[in-house]
Amino acid sequence: MPVITEIEDLRRIYRRRVPKMFYDYTESGSWSEQTFRENSSDFDDLYFRQRVAVDMADRSLNSQMIGQDVSMPVALAPVGLTGMQHWDGEIKAAKAAEKFGVPYSLSTMSICSIEDVAANTSKPFWMQVYTLKDDDFMQRLFDRAKEAKCSAAIITVDLQLLGQRHRDLKNGLSAPPKLTPKSVANMMTKVQWGMGMLSTKRRFFGNIVGHAKGVSDPSSLSTWTAQAFDQSLDWDRIREFRKMWDGPLIIKGIMDPRDARKALNVGADAIVVSNHGGRQLDGALSAIRALEPIVEAVGDKIEVHFDSGIRSGQDVLKALALGAKGTYIGRAYVYGLGAMGQEGVTRSLQVIEKELDMSMALCGHRDIKGVDRDILMVPKGFSDGWDQEPPAA
Ligand code: GLV
Repeated sequence: MPVITEIEDLRRIYRRRVPKMFYDYTESGSWSEQTFRENSSDFDDLYFRQRVAVDMADRSLNSQMIGQDVSMPVALAPVGLTGMQHWDGEIKAAKAAEKFGVPYSLSTMSICSIEDVAANTSKPFWMQVYTLKDDDFMQRLFDRAKEAKCSAAIITVDLQLLGQRHRDLKNGLSAPPKLTPKSVANMMTKVQWGMGMLSTKRRFFGNIVGHAKGVSDPSSLSTWTAQAFDQSLDWDRIREFRKMWDGPLIIKGIMDPRDARKALNVGADAIVVSNHGGRQLDGALSAIRALEPIVEAVGDKIEVHFDSGIRSGQDVLKALALGAKGTYIGRAYVYGLGAMGQEGVTRSLQVIEKELDMSMALCGHRDIKGVDRDILMVPKGFSDGWDQEPPAA
């Protein structure tokens, strides 16, 4: 068994084990990938204040996200095509999250369906919802999530159009993968992955195939997002979705305090500051820089969560210190899943947990709920000082 000490170890193994098409899907941002890169590198501009001779025995990372107990405030983010990274990937990731005591979010674009994940897990998970034009599909999606006892819905509001990721187009990304000489040659070198995929029937977009109408090629993410997604989505429409789902609601993809206030007005329970891992608007600010102004605008009225760029427990701690009540990891757990299935997801969570716990302690805290901005040195102008401040909503 390789010695895993950091998330990067898992990424390296993942890269060797999973077909290039799916590795590239994970490891891409849109266009020049500036935002994708800065989502992670901007964490390096934040420094911790080291404290000493503070009692650091008996520490706790236990917390809550949207009123639900979590063993640490780190959820698994919704990630499309997870079941292509490893056979039955969504079920395995959900099981790992369940055992660890953190929330699992299932993407609308998953391979394993809502019903399948529910049948193979015992704790409620969160359902991520993309906004399609088809009202029947949307109502059914919320109903299916309710029947599956999902304990929250996450509406993603930053993907009316799919950002262009060059490599996905060049690789001809699809689920299941189309068999071209190039893709077959590459898959032949991923024996364990191939055997696993042959052992399962779960190789299609499980929430879409047989459920969504008017999609000419449901195996192609770019085709079906272009055909089915609602480009005219606005806050009135989001209000309609709020009526379709009476459980806890999280709105994901907020990068501007004005939009945060609007999310508040539609009756969301939490918002997620996120730029979709740099996969949508390239050239947008990193999510960690966008976080604090949003917390200042709405943090006393709604729970603010954070996603995009986290690759370590230190990153989680920095986001919490800047006011996030919960965080999400996407790529950081997919690396583990692709590297070693369910065990790999557990390893990712263990790495993050250990880094979070020890860094918190060395900053002089024993309880994650007590961590605040005081543990950080934030450079002047990290989140503000732009020439033009956004006008008030
Ligand atoms: C889907 O959520 C994607 O970013 O590809």
